[in-house]
Amino acid sequence: MMGQIRLQIVEDAADVARIAAQYLCAQIRERSDAVLGLATGSTPEATYAQLVHAHRQRRVSLSRVRSVNLDEYQGLDGAHEQSYRHYMQRHLFDHVDMRPWNALLLDGTAVDGEAECRAYEERIRAIGGVDLWLLGIGSNGHIAFNEPGSARDSRTRCVSLSAETIADNSRLFTAPTEVPRRAYTVGIATIMEARRVLLLATGAHKARAVSAALRGEEGSHCPASFLRGHSECTFLVDRPAASLLES
Ligand code: PGA
Repeated sequence: MMGQIRLQIVEDAADVARIAAQYLCAQIRERSDAVLGLATGSTPEATYAQLVHAHRQRRVSLSRVRSVNLDEYQGLDGAHEQSYRHYMQRHLFDHVDMRPWNALLLDGTAVDGEAECRAYEERIRAIGGVDLWLLGIGSNGHIAFNEPGSARDSRTRCVSLSAETIADNSRLFTAPTEVPRRAYTVGIATIMEARRVLLLATGAHKARAVSAALRGEEGSHCPASFLRGHSECTFLVDRPAASLLES
């Protein structure tokens, strides 16, 4: 079924985090063993902080929750500070009651990358698919590491990162040359199979990508635009990220 993206514009990044955490909590309350699709990056950090807060206040338990992450840098093992496994430990897993064996992440150091990608798709299917997938958006319109040029029917695979993504992410590494050039990512088709999708965007540097995703031509040049074909997708954005939508 084709849907229309629901656009929710809120005041600032703090509101995005508060409301995104409410979506996650509602999903977990609806189904205590919900499968959450999780994103990394700067945007969802505050959302995870809100979720941790809700857990500490005993408003939500993640003891039965399963999770699937979007992507991982190739070559970084889970102990590397910039690996996405490390990020998830730091921002969420270490602070809630999720069982470690219920968290599914791609292994950046897999010897057989193709087998790793195939197994990831199989594992997602085996746990019944993703109920709610939390996404960020790249300044170039990517979702996960599906860079411009990614196909609508793409699946979990190893990709080369675009120059824009390497530049965007270099702030987190000691030098731009330290940023891995390749990464494992779920595909666009993998994301589209989630029952619900919640994309977060904050800040003026995301305005062009948000506008292209919602109002530009749909296609591979802006992978996030494919979400228009999803039956239950919400874009939760703050005013700066929505600033090019009104004009
Ligand atoms: P960011 O990354 O949240 O760090 O801006 C988003 C993304 O690249 O998907």
